[in-house]
Parts: sequence; C-alpha cells; structure tokens
Amino acid sequence: MSRVALVTGGSRGIGAAISIALDKAGYKVAANYAGNDEAAAKFRDETGIAVYKWSVADYEECRDGIARFESDHGPVDVLVNNAGITRDAMFHRMTREQWHEVIDTNLTGVFNMTHNVWSGMRERKFGRVVNISSINGQKGQAGQANYSAAKAGDLGITKALAQEGARAGITVNAICPGYIGTDMVMSVPEDVRNKIVAQIPAGRLGEPEEIARCVVFLASDDAGFITGSTITANGGQFFV
Ligand code: CAA
Repeated sequence: MSRVALVTGGSRGIGAAISIALDKAGYKVAANYAGNDEAAAKFRDETGIAVYKWSVADYEECRDGIARFESDHGPVDVLVNNAGITRDAMFHRMTREQWHEVIDTNLTGVFNMTHNVWSGMRERKFGRVVNISSINGQKGQAGQANYSAAKAGDLGITKALAQEGARAGITVNAICPGYIGTDMVMSVPEDVRNKIVAQIPAGRLGEPEEIARCVVFLASDDAGFITGSTITANGGQFFV
C-alpha cells in the first residue's frame, strides 16, 4: 500500500516540486494551498494531484482540512510543512501585522498542522514530518526579522518533536533551502537579488527539484534513523 503524503503550500514553488517528486516516488499525495485558486486548479489539472484549500495559520481550518483529506485518502503518513510567506521590511519599518502574518503562517502553521496529525502517527507508530525552514532561519537576514525568527523557530520545533516522536517511529527533520528560483525569491527587487546571487558560491539560484529530492529521501524508509536533523541546500552560501 502506498503511503499518504500531505504537502502544505504544495501547489506552487518548492511545494509543487515536492508534491510532484513524492507522487513520482509512489506516494498518494495531495497539496494544501491557501489563496491562489487559479494556480491550484492549473496544478491539479496538469499533475492529477488533488488540492485542498485552507490556511495553515488557522488551527480549526487545519483540523477540518486534515479530516477531509484523511477521509478521502487515509491517514497522513508524511507531512511536509512547506507553506510560507514573506512580508519583508527593515525592522524600523516593520508593522505588527507583518510580524504576526509571518509568524502565524511560517511557525504557528507548523504547530497547527503537526498537532493535528501527531496523535494518529503515534498510534500507528509511523510518521515522517519534514519542515521546510530556510537559510535565513540559520543566518538571519536584514529585512526579514519576522521570517528569520519564524524559520529559526521551525528548527527548534523540529528538534523538540524529534525527541518526542522517536520512540513512536516518527522522524522529524528540517530542510534549509538557500535562495531557490521561485516566485518568492523573484519578487525580491532585481538589484537586491543580484547582490544575493553574487554571494552564492555555486553562482546560481537553486532549483525547486533540488529541495524536493531531499524531502523524498527524508520521507523514505532509508532515512529511518535520521531525526532532528537539518539538510542544508544552499549552493555553499552559508555553513552552520
Ligand atoms: N544589511 C544592513 N542594512 C541594510 C541591508 C543589509 N543587508 N540592506 C539594506 N540596509 C539598510 C540600507 O542601507 C538603508 O539604510 P539607511 O536608511 O540608513 O540608508 C535601510 O536598510 C533601508 O534600505 P532600503 O532603502 O533598501 O529599504 P527598502 O525599504 O527599500 O527595502 C527590503 C528593504 C524590502 C528589506 C529590501 O532590502 C529587500 O527586499 N531585501 C531582501 C530581503 C531578502 O533577502 N528576502 C528574501 C526573500 S526570499 C526568501 O525569503 C526565501 C528564503 O527562504 C531564502
């Protein structure tokens, strides 16, 4: 029986590449998305991967959305917490709304999703949780106090849950992508982006598929003894 995987923010960018890679690897996959109906419908039509709309920032929506997903596909074996947003601003200009929106989605979203699949994974004695953090959670980034804090928090919850889940057969790991050629990075002003690319020893942005392959590995049985770890995939831009 194929395992069941749920990818948040799974219809665009890195998330879409993850959904497709898990599908190709034989998982029964569906993608959650929050806002862009048109992109999600296009993704579903092109890939045949089901899409479900709810906001990871809302606990009740996650609970109800996961219940709908599980009645369609069965219990979640693999959860990929990929959904993320940016609201970049230098700190002296950052509003409370910009702070809370990013924390609510990028950090509390991981709690909201994982909390609603955790008991089931414990009962079934199997689970894979993969949290997509960021290079900027590791090194910090000017203009991203909110995002850096949330992504660093994602590494903290990864390590705590790895310890709690290990005896129940649940692994919890993180991936820290560097700058990947997605809409999120392409929306950084070109002059700023060019300066960032100049700091990447590989001399290029990463590709979403390069992150997706890390997820497929962490979800696999081969990775069963790996938990609480971080895979850094950033073209050499930063070493922990
Ligand atoms: N370090 C320190 N100070 C900096 C700085 C830096 N890297 N960049 C700018 N500043 C300073 C400027 O010198 C300026 O100072 P003064 O006011 O004293 O002159 C001040 O900050 C304001 O600079 P700007 O005029 O450029 O500010 P802005 O409001 O036009 O733009 C910004 C600010 C929106 C944050 C813009 O700099 C930006 O987009 N930066 C990129 C942030 C980034 O890397 N985002 C990543 C998005 S992709 C992603 O998040 C995915 C992932 O996981 C990697």
